[in-house]
Amino acid sequence: MRPRLVAANWKMNGSFDMLRRYVEGLDLSPVRLDDVDVVLCPPSVYVADLARILGGASRVACGGQDVGIQLSGAHTGELAAEMLADAGARWVIVGHSERRIEQAEKDDLVAAKAAAGLRGGLRPIICVGETLAERDGGLEFAVVARQLEAVVEQVGLAGLAKGAVAYEPVWAIGTGKTASATQAQEMHAFIRDKLARIDADIAERMRIVYGGSVNAENAAELFDQADIDGGLIGGAGLDPQVFTEIVKIAARDL
Ligand code: PGA
Repeated sequence: MRPRLVAANWKMNGSFDMLRRYVEGLDLSPVRLDDVDVVLCPPSVYVADLARILGGASRVACGGQDVGIQLSGAHTGELAAEMLADAGARWVIVGHSERRIEQAEKDDLVAAKAAAGLRGGLRPIICVGETLAERDGGLEFAVVARQLEAVVEQVGLAGLAKGAVAYEPVWAIGTGKTASATQAQEMHAFIRDKLARIDADIAERMRIVYGGSVNAENAAELFDQADIDGGLIGGAGLDPQVFTEIVKIAARDL
C-alpha cells in the first residue's frame, strides 16, 4: 500500500498571526500518521516560522509553493531550493496551474523547477492538469502526458518518485466543481499506466494525489479510488479543523 500524502496549499493567504493558531487548531493526535505524509505549504515568507512552530520532529512537514531554478546569484526576487530547505521546508509544489497561467510557466521551466527542488533536497509535488477548453476538446490525456513527459525527461522516474504528482484539473480549482471520483480515477490510472511503461515498480510506488475543490465531504470518495493517493488541498486547507478532517479521512482504512 502506498503511503498517502495530504498537502495544504495556502496560496497567497496567511499571516504570522495565523501560523500558531493554525498549528494549534490541527488536531492530529488521534491520527496514525505512519502512513500519511502531511504537508503545509504557506507563502515562502512564513516557511521558516511555520517550520519552527511545527518543530523538527513533527510528523507535519512544511513546503514551499514554488522555487527558482538557480542556486544563487543575480536573480532578483528568486528563491533557491536550498534556501527553502534551509528555512525548514521539506517539500515544494511546482507547476501549479495558477503559476502556469499567471506567470506563463511552461513545461520545461516546471521540469527545471522540479530538478532544482530535488537538487536542494526537497520533494517536489508536480502539478499537472488540463483546462476546461482542453477537456472539452478531448485533449485532457494529451495535455497531462505532455506535462509529465517534460518532467520525466529532466528528472527521470526516480526523481519524480521522490516527490509526488498532483492531478489538478484547472476547471476544478477554487470553483467548487470537483472532478467526479470516476473522472479523477480515470486520469490517475492513465498517469500510473504511462509511468509504468517506463518502470512498473516505480509507477506502483508513485504517489498521485488529486487537487481541485477537495473538502471534508468529498475526500472519502476520492481517496477511495485505487489510484488516488491523497490530495492537494487549497481552500479547505486554510481551516485547520477542516484540514484535520481531510487528513483523518486519508488515514482511514489503510
Ligand atoms: P482548491 O485548490 O482546493 O481551492 O480548489 C486546490 C489547488 O489549487 O491546489
